[in-house]
Amino acid sequence: MRLPGLIDPHVHVREPGQTHKEDWDTATQAALAGGVTTVLAMPNTKPPIFDAATLDLALAAANEKARCDYAQYLGAGPANAAEAARLAPRAAGLKMYLDSTFGELRLDDMTLWLEHFRRWSGPGPIVVHAESRSMAAALACAQMFDRPVHIAHVSLREEILLIKEAKARGVKVTCEATPHHLFLAADDIPAISHGHPGRGEVRPRLASRADVEALWQNLDVIDCFATDHAPHTLAEKDGENPPPGFPGLETMLPLLLTAIDAGRLTFDDLIQKLAINPRKIFHLPEQPETWVEVDENARWEIRAAELRSKCGWTPFEGWQVRGRVTRVVLRGREAFKDGRILVEPGYGRNVREE
Ligand code: DOR
Ligand code: ZN
Repeated sequence: MRLPGLIDPHVHVREPGQTHKEDWDTATQAALAGGVTTVLAMPNTKPPIFDAATLDLALAAANEKARCDYAQYLGAGPANAAEAARLAPRAAGLKMYLDSTFGELRLDDMTLWLEHFRRWSGPGPIVVHAESRSMAAALACAQMFDRPVHIAHVSLREEILLIKEAKARGVKVTCEATPHHLFLAADDIPAISHGHPGRGEVRPRLASRADVEALWQNLDVIDCFATDHAPHTLAEKDGENPPPGFPGLETMLPLLLTAIDAGRLTFDDLIQKLAINPRKIFHLPEQPETWVEVDENARWEIRAAELRSKCGWTPFEGWQVRGRVTRVVLRGREAFKDGRILVEPGYGRNVREE
């Protein structure tokens, strides 16, 4: 069957600066193999993307190497609110890190948040990494400044219920959930780890079964699915100070198709949350002559050795899934067919450029 080109609003491409983990070529190959035709790239690179010079740096690499379409986020720093607002038309959105995670971008002092909420006006929303009570504080800012805010990777029951209430009361809030927070819980960590506890590290952390169940019970509150594709090499995950993050671009669609097969969601949910809603929330243009063909009956086993990401592992190793991407057509060109990438580096377009 045919699906629209999927949009992943949360991808860590790792270029500039950490191309041993991933780069614009491998990340966008992984995207196409997973049925994703647009990726929105996170700014916690090295250097972080937070001004005109660093935005140009990321976009130059993307322009040269991306094989699917893309846009690049700006990161909210302690002193760049005016410049970020000026650059907003060129950016996917503004990413604010309000809790601890990988990289240098983090805004501890709440007065720093205000400047960003005061000035940012889109076209993309403010996307926050804000967990639990920080998330409630971000919702308060969205309401005070009447700005659209998109909550990244919702993982807790209390978060999804608070978002539901805020939506009902007119706050301009949208949110996303990742496959790993929908399909894995904290008690899966031993099975993921294979004796290396670092492999289970991710932010937000894997939550309780009750939290996972609350996400499924409130699927209608979840606007988008997003991978939070966060590749780190196996050596890094198994070493000292393992960095948090899971790869996800190549496993999201098969996991969701398997859930459809099990009656946990519908094709309509999938299309809403991976194409229609992200296009609306991020104000992305239509991709003409673009679609994804899947064999919804194919059964296969997820194996890291067969994935395109440079990171070389997946938390879903050995999972039996149903549904496989067979062909991707992107703006009139066959971009992926039967396991082969058919477009060259540089074919991808920046969706924020006319
Ligand atoms: O687990 C995570 N890894 N969570 C984040 O928020 C950042 C990401 C990364 O960049 O590795
Ligand atoms: Zn992330």
